[in-house]
Amino acid sequence: MKEAEGSTIRNRELAPAGGQKIAWVREHMPVLAALQRELGHKQPFSGYRVGICLHLEAKTAYLAQTLSELGAQVAITGSNPLSTQDDVAAALARSGVMVHSWYGATPGEYEEFISRIAEFRPHLIIDDGGDLVSLMHEEADSLDYVVGGAEETTTGLLRLRAMAEAEKLQFPMMAVNDALSKYLFDNRYGTGQSVWDGILRTTNLVIAGKQVVVAGYGWCGKGVALRARGLGARVLVTEVDPIAANEALMDGCDVATMDEAARTGDIFVTTTGCRDVIAQRHYEVMKDGAILANAGHFNVEIDVEGLADMSEEVNEARANVAEYRLPGGRRVYLLGEGRLVNLACADGHPAEIMDLSFGLQVLALKYLVDNPALAPGVHPVSRDIDREVSAIRLRALGISIDQLTEDQRGYLQSWQM
Ligand code: ADE
Repeated sequence: MKEAEGSTIRNRELAPAGGQKIAWVREHMPVLAALQRELGHKQPFSGYRVGICLHLEAKTAYLAQTLSELGAQVAITGSNPLSTQDDVAAALARSGVMVHSWYGATPGEYEEFISRIAEFRPHLIIDDGGDLVSLMHEEADSLDYVVGGAEETTTGLLRLRAMAEAEKLQFPMMAVNDALSKYLFDNRYGTGQSVWDGILRTTNLVIAGKQVVVAGYGWCGKGVALRARGLGARVLVTEVDPIAANEALMDGCDVATMDEAARTGDIFVTTTGCRDVIAQRHYEVMKDGAILANAGHFNVEIDVEGLADMSEEVNEARANVAEYRLPGGRRVYLLGEGRLVNLACADGHPAEIMDLSFGLQVLALKYLVDNPALAPGVHPVSRDIDREVSAIRLRALGISIDQLTEDQRGYLQSWQM
């Protein structure tokens, strides 16, 4: 294939390194490989333009190539200014996908790149965080050429549901994040592993014996807390929901308010999806050397501006580690500018986990193509598709599971004494 006309990437020469990364993940993503094999001859996306806004690293590139193999014309941008890997972007552009993205995009460039995907007039959309769908609705009067899309993440679904509630959403969006084969694995074990990957790569410090404060005990927070315990940390959870707080307690964590936790924590990880979770009053009481990392979609959970305003000096301590010197000499370290630590400071979730999420994405888009009359709004991924994706993975691993007999099926459906 030839390099797609008109890609906007940092450096074409980086393509060989990016190609190597994509080749590695391809070996570890059997669900996407199976979908290519099973659907390839049908070319389900032939004649469809697919616009993607996702963290542009190797697994995402393989998803884009899979859609291309299944007949789509694909254009892609990154869903965070710090998550695009320039070598992967170069390799992807060389393989025939249109790419508009680079690492370290300014806010203006970030928006411009998303606009280019909107200008591509995609029939099908994959979004992560809701920026592409939101911008398309802001920029165009009519979106009647759009068949629909699929949203990857919790934050994006919150925004989509707000749009639907306000009767603004003009096409159907599949809630991929809410599928079991997505959040049970990606949000929990994916975030649980990749957040620590990002923190360990950037700091090279020990976790054992430290107090880790996890803000938010949704599926992402659960994963981060679980793996922190595995690394030997004492985990303290902050929550606004009493049920989630009880879950954290019974999982063996301490629970307190952030005002209390700020005084004792060594490492803070935010996973709430909300803003101003760690704010100036917390920096005032933090221990010298406290480390701050965010794992939520947007960089709003840690008040970075407030931290900068209070600081007498800001220095780069290591790559991706900013040292903020507070009055009196205490230091607070911020990782990856307060952006998603697992993508800004590492490679995102493991390939085997993104394989499930992206398998769901492919089948969600196919569902939209097969059901073109779906109403505007947010739609669940069916349990059949959800099970199918998990089943493909088990088959690829050579693992069989039991099947219900007719008798057992009948028993489960009976109600009489
Ligand atoms: N890689 C691609 N998309 C990702 C996501 N949403 N989270 C973590 N890693 C990813």
